Amino acid sequence: MNNNFKLNIQNIGEKIELKGWVNKIRKLGELIFIDIRNGQEIIQAVIDSSSSSYEIANKLKNEFVIFVKGKIVKRKEENLKLVSGSIEILIHEIIIINKSKQTPMLIRDETDALEQKRNEYRYIDLRRKVNQEMLKSRSDFNKLIRDYFYNKNFIEVETPIITKPSSGGAGEFKIISEKHKGKYYSLAQSPQIYKQLLMYGGLNKYFQIARCFRDEDSRKDRQLEFTQLDLEMSFVTREEIMKIINDLLKKIVTKFTNYKFDKIPIITFEESISQYGSDKPDTRFENKISDLTSILKVTPVNFIYDKILSGKEVKAVFFEKNISNGEIKEIDKLIKSQGSSGLSWVKFSNNEILGSLKLLSKQNIEDIKTEMNIDTDGILLIIIDKKMKALEFIGRIRLLVAEKLNIINNDKFSFVWVVDFPLFKKNLEGKIESMHNPFTSIKEEYKDKFKSLTIDNKELVTILSNSYDIILNGYEIGGGSSRISNVEEQNKVFEFIGISQQEKDSSFGWFLEAQKYGIPEHGGIALGLDRILSILLKKDSIREVIAFPKSSHGTDEMMKSPIDLK
Ligand code: AMO
Repeated sequence: MNNNFKLNIQNIGEKIELKGWVNKIRKLGELIFIDIRNGQEIIQAVIDSSSSSYEIANKLKNEFVIFVKGKIVKRKEENLKLVSGSIEILIHEIIIINKSKQTPMLIRDETDALEQKRNEYRYIDLRRKVNQEMLKSRSDFNKLIRDYFYNKNFIEVETPIITKPSSGGAGEFKIISEKHKGKYYSLAQSPQIYKQLLMYGGLNKYFQIARCFRDEDSRKDRQLEFTQLDLEMSFVTREEIMKIINDLLKKIVTKFTNYKFDKIPIITFEESISQYGSDKPDTRFENKISDLTSILKVTPVNFIYDKILSGKEVKAVFFEKNISNGEIKEIDKLIKSQGSSGLSWVKFSNNEILGSLKLLSKQNIEDIKTEMNIDTDGILLIIIDKKMKALEFIGRIRLLVAEKLNIINNDKFSFVWVVDFPLFKKNLEGKIESMHNPFTSIKEEYKDKFKSLTIDNKELVTILSNSYDIILNGYEIGGGSSRISNVEEQNKVFEFIGISQQEKDSSFGWFLEAQKYGIPEHGGIALGLDRILSILLKKDSIREVIAFPKSSHGTDEMMKSPIDLK
């Protein structure tokens, strides 16, 4: 049985047998209309009271699975929304294959069913057309990626998911072994080590559509298990990797949207933080951050003067539209609750200067206008704090205000590469951590300096690495680096991030040993596929592009996992 749901006027007069779900029933006098659904297709069938199956039709309910036999006839009123909208099936016989309880939600595109309900009954939710289309898009997405890399002679390799806990182990799932009593494995956070070992093993172009597992808070762009396009190459430059990804992204964007773009701009980490207050800038709109510290060193506003004197910096962003004082108060309240000392602002309105900083001098205002190219009315928002804190908050305000003013073009897909991240960062306890991962190599011009530094040297955080992230509409959709291929350098990085000699021997001894057998220079990247597809399909969360997502709390609402340890 071919179960053909794609029929048209050419099929009129043919006999047909179809199996599918009852999507909708309408009773009109002597006639019963049944929309039968299979996958994404719907066909209208009709039965009249003279048919021997009429009584069966009368008892049908939504989501019953039925088998109908009949004849294809012309439909009185065409339904252009359906592929088979020009015909209908005149039913001779109906057989009920399976009955259905009343479903907890309607199988309609628009649903007001709560996400919890949708996840609990995911197999029903999946019957909705949007989800059928999503599964198809995801399959097309994976195929496009596979075809792209096969055409470029990459080799797809599956790497282990059951692996060894890495040092620190933050965010790693433990797998307790029944066979090896008292021992455990961990689930791979990514194929990172294995892909490097593939390069050590002589492969030079690897890729994989890989499952990754991280035991961390779920968010709208984060799941406990997610999928990466992972790749690694030996004897490769950063530019070559970027080109491969740029060309891939162009193909993906062309396939899934009408958007066109030429080049993906590249900015440094330093530029990203100082212009956008974030290492994942939303570049769909301009409104870059400016530094007004030197301009406001001389000002009649005492508190600014005092703050600058105590080493704080003035960061500002300007919007050509105004927001209300109520909205400003709301933002001020929000950022104060997040630890900021508060927001200052200047409103330019019909040649008047208003706002909390209206007492700035004429010279101050003129200098600010020149510095920031302000020649219209609008609002200038200002944060004065320690440099990084001021940038972080003004970056958040930039996003909040852009959303409020509705200036973000949702049809735009704005990519940007952020490169040259610092090798290390200090965590909240002041400990040195890798900014990307401990395998990231050091930029050539910093190598000598790195050699000369010790762990307590403040300059450690100024060392830059050969790393790169790719950002889309303010989301990090991928990241990678060229890797360390020198055992002394690797040893020193491990040491700096606090891996003891003993731990180094037990956790990474084999890895350091491997680096002594002539390894190639190599580098790679991983893209977050769930994130990319959810952004391109304009979904609110990556949960909308995953067949069986975990809830926003990381739970499985259907199977009810996790469960208690026995
Ligand atoms: P990283 O940890 O940056 O790099 O991950 C790469 C990309 O994967 C996506 N991603 C996630 N997506 C959904 N849910 C999550 N919990 C999640 N975590 C990460 C992001 C991110 O940019 N091995 C390195 C890559 C490399 O250096 O080659 C790695 O995993 O889009």
